[in-house]
Amino acid sequence: MRLPFTGWGFRLSRKNPKPPLETLRCKSTDAAASGELPSTLNPVIRRVEQGHRAASFKTVDIYPGDNPIPPQEDPFKAFLRHRNEPNKIIREGSDAGVLISSNPHKLDSASNLSPTILKLLDRHLYAEHNHPISTTRKLIQSVFPQPKYQHYTATNPVVTTAANFDVLGFPADHPGRSSTDTYYVNKDEVLRTHTSAHQHAAFKAMAKLKASYGYTICADVFRRDSIDRSHFPVFHQMEGARLWRKPKTDSHGIRISSFEGFNRRIELIQHSLRELPRVPVDAEDPNPAFHDERNPKQSEHKHEEVRLMAAHLKRSLETLVARVFHAAREARVASGHLDADTVDQPLKVRWVEAYFPFTTPSWELEVLWQGEWLELLGCGIVQQPLLHNAGVGDRIGWAWGLGVERLAMLLFGIPDIRLFWSQDPRFLDQFQDKVITRYQPFSRYPACYKDIAFWIDSSPPTTVAETPSTSITITEPQPASPKNPHSGSSSLAKPGLAAAAGGDSTKASPSPATTQPASPSSSSSSSSPSPAAATFHENNVMEVVRDVAGSLVEDVRLVDEFRHPNTGRTSLCYRVNYRSPERTLTNDETNRLHEELGRRLVRELGVELR
Ligand code: DAH
Repeated sequence: MRLPFTGWGFRLSRKNPKPPLETLRCKSTDAAASGELPSTLNPVIRRVEQGHRAASFKTVDIYPGDNPIPPQEDPFKAFLRHRNEPNKIIREGSDAGVLISSNPHKLDSASNLSPTILKLLDRHLYAEHNHPISTTRKLIQSVFPQPKYQHYTATNPVVTTAANFDVLGFPADHPGRSSTDTYYVNKDEVLRTHTSAHQHAAFKAMAKLKASYGYTICADVFRRDSIDRSHFPVFHQMEGARLWRKPKTDSHGIRISSFEGFNRRIELIQHSLRELPRVPVDAEDPNPAFHDERNPKQSEHKHEEVRLMAAHLKRSLETLVARVFHAAREARVASGHLDADTVDQPLKVRWVEAYFPFTTPSWELEVLWQGEWLELLGCGIVQQPLLHNAGVGDRIGWAWGLGVERLAMLLFGIPDIRLFWSQDPRFLDQFQDKVITRYQPFSRYPACYKDIAFWIDSSPPTTVAETPSTSITITEPQPASPKNPHSGSSSLAKPGLAAAAGGDSTKASPSPATTQPASPSSSSSSSSPSPAAATFHENNVMEVVRDVAGSLVEDVRLVDEFRHPNTGRTSLCYRVNYRSPERTLTNDETNRLHEELGRRLVRELGVELR
């Protein structure tokens, strides 16, 4: 089963290069110095669940919604504040901008926000009382109890490219940076593509919080991706971290040497490992704690420290999985989907070596569920420069990240990711806060399949254009390489790196093509782009489909592809499945949508319909 995971991990068997730590170091310093990241967390505690009775899941907003207004604000930004029309692209003369979470942002030539994605901001499903996403969050948080772990949410989805990528050591050509995969607000800001964008801020906060040694963060994240029953351009992630500091004094408060400090830290990790509950999980873990070539430890870390931290990380996450899947199995028994004997069998999980720019060594955890191995989460030992840059360089520790929908779909038996966004009481009324129940389908409405076929290159292929341009009608210059988020990140450029979600080379054109990426404004007021400017990418087709039909499309699949033997032109045929999760669509309605889709593909991607 393919469900939305976190996406940017690589199996080590795919031979991925580790980014040089120097890059990590200097880029993060730049980012911190630029003042883009909050120096402290908002001290105001925001209760995320309205009317939540037990106060056990207090959550703090990690990115305050209201930034202070600078004394000399850009006049267009001031205008956006004054207009106060959140999540809507506003144009005035040659300027374009958008107000998100009370903050004005100017758009530029890198922007690719669409009205569809903007409509999905501010829903905060993780905080909605009774919602399955919120219950799943609480279940996960319960494995990491307060006050030792701080629980954060992040209401403002806009983060800097520094926070989302640079601080975390993402290489300049990582496919996740590509505008085909990421929603750019402008060249310096994106809708966060993962909750790790808040790691730096959360580690910084830890420097000030004496009583806590870890955190969890939950937020919505945004990716331009394929359309099917397990992918939606907005989904939720959670991540967590746990650090151990090196003591400076012994238990009597007497100063100890640095060497002694190292020994004490090892004892502390040993102690925390002993304190963890033992869970009935059958875990397959053939890998060593680290491997010099495949999955190296960091030079600052001692062998024993890594061994113990890895054991602590794995046991903590096995506990998480045991808790979640136990709840899922109980719900299945209660609904008559599973017999009690099967429930008593221990849960099977396996650990696989992985690669993330911000951890080493790294792993992924898979779980055997209904006969299939599912990737569930990514994790690893936090890169020391990251901790150093956040002011907690004296500590070492682990971090993990997972996709919440993936777990919620299994827990509640929800078959289609679009349902989480439903406001239909027949869906919402089925769920209660902190209770796992099996979803009862209220109806499955008829599907309506329609094919759309087009040539993707209007002239015989010659060269691959490097820098796509978007079609916003404002006059900012195209950002220059190497900072340009588009440049060098073409999925065609690095097939090896492009394998993970968020940068999938299989979605790029099978041949060099000359089409235009989807653009935010192209729906309403685009200038006519030069179709010869960019490479074809499937995610741009998906974005146009989303803009035209929103959640009325269940999935879109490539069903045919061929190259004309004489002209060398490539033809693609996509099958669009129009099906609402909430009602029956009329023929007229789907025909109109499909015609509009054809027109928009021609106009925005420069394709020629067949
Ligand atoms: N941010 C990663 C993703 O979206 C998931 C992840 C992996 C988070 C490992 C972590 C981690 O904190 O340590 O794919």
